[in-house]
Amino acid sequence: DVRYAERVDPFLLVKAEIDSVSERLRRGILSGIPVLERAAEYFFKLGAEGKRLRPTMLLLMASALSTVGPPADFFLSVDERPANIHPMEQRRRQQRVAEITEMIHVASLMHDDVIDSANTRRGLMALNSVFGNKVAILAGDFLLARASVTLAALRDSEVIQLLSQVIEDLVTGEILQMTSTEEDLLSLEFYARKTFFKTASLMANSCKAIALLGGQPAAVAQLAHDYGRHLGLAFQVVDDVLDFTGSALALGKPALNDLRSGLATAPVLFAAQEHPELLPLIQRKFRSAGDVDTAQRLVFASRGIERARELAAQHASLAVCAVEAMPPAATTHALQCRDALLAITERVLTRSK
Ligand code: FPP
Ligand code: MG
Ligand code: MG
Repeated sequence: DVRYAERVDPFLLVKAEIDSVSERLRRGILSGIPVLERAAEYFFKLGAEGKRLRPTMLLLMASALSTVGPPADFFLSVDERPANIHPMEQRRRQQRVAEITEMIHVASLMHDDVIDSANTRRGLMALNSVFGNKVAILAGDFLLARASVTLAALRDSEVIQLLSQVIEDLVTGEILQMTSTEEDLLSLEFYARKTFFKTASLMANSCKAIALLGGQPAAVAQLAHDYGRHLGLAFQVVDDVLDFTGSALALGKPALNDLRSGLATAPVLFAAQEHPELLPLIQRKFRSAGDVDTAQRLVFASRGIERARELAAQHASLAVCAVEAMPPAATTHALQCRDALLAITERVLTRSK
């Protein structure tokens, strides 16, 4: 039972490069239109950047599949490392994917907080609370537009397709959630499908794009996709557990938000298998007086949280399998980054925010 998290800190390993991705994000969203600029930069400012899980995962994936050493080596002069001109350009393109992914993610949060009428995000006021719904929607659209320009500049039609599919999937997930029938609401299969669209598609397709831009064959790109997909599913199931077990202070957003929004997630769906009296509450979206409290009580009186954690752990171990099926790491640094990808699967399970 190896604890990768004890051997390597995934966030530290790519910290310098992540900081430069963050810096490019801040510079890449300037527009000269004051309100738009202030709204667009809101979640990219120092201290508002969140965990930066996605760019970290992506740069680690890039390094884990790389055949040259750590990125610092690329910055030596061309005379010293003539063979590395190409890898350096490759790395730049992979960094662009990390930036695009973060822009799409933040755009979806801006729109999500309007849809959910949320007041807080990342421990700050939500963008819609500061600038109003209209500006928040437009700022999200603006980020998508800037992400599209960066994406087009990569001139890689498969990568363009993959990341455009992500935007479609995010919309699909949101609409599925919004229009779910009473039957859907009770179904773990529907929950899994919705969760793929809402969270896992972004991680899966961006990981695949990184592998393709790294010159990897389709089979390896598929393993990168599998890693992102399972990590994303594990991440979201844990998010749904934290909605019950976490505090608003730690989460930087309200707790018990899902029940209050009428959403039945893994803990409550598993709890309902032990306590069928939950079924009508789920179907009426916890709308009757006392429903939220009753549901919360029954979830904690059942194995709901435990079984949801088991589900997340299954996905985390499938993410591990995907990395282990990849061709052997080409350098010591690549090996370290592979370990870091495995460490992330553990972090996702043990995180408290
Ligand atoms: C957070 O979920 C929201 C998402 C993962 C995606 C939201 C997608 C849209 C609003 C569609 C529009 C997409 C784009 C690209 C603009 P949550 O509300 O369950 O979680 P939370 O607790 O973090 O708010
Ligand atoms: Mg929300
Ligand atoms: Mg939402």
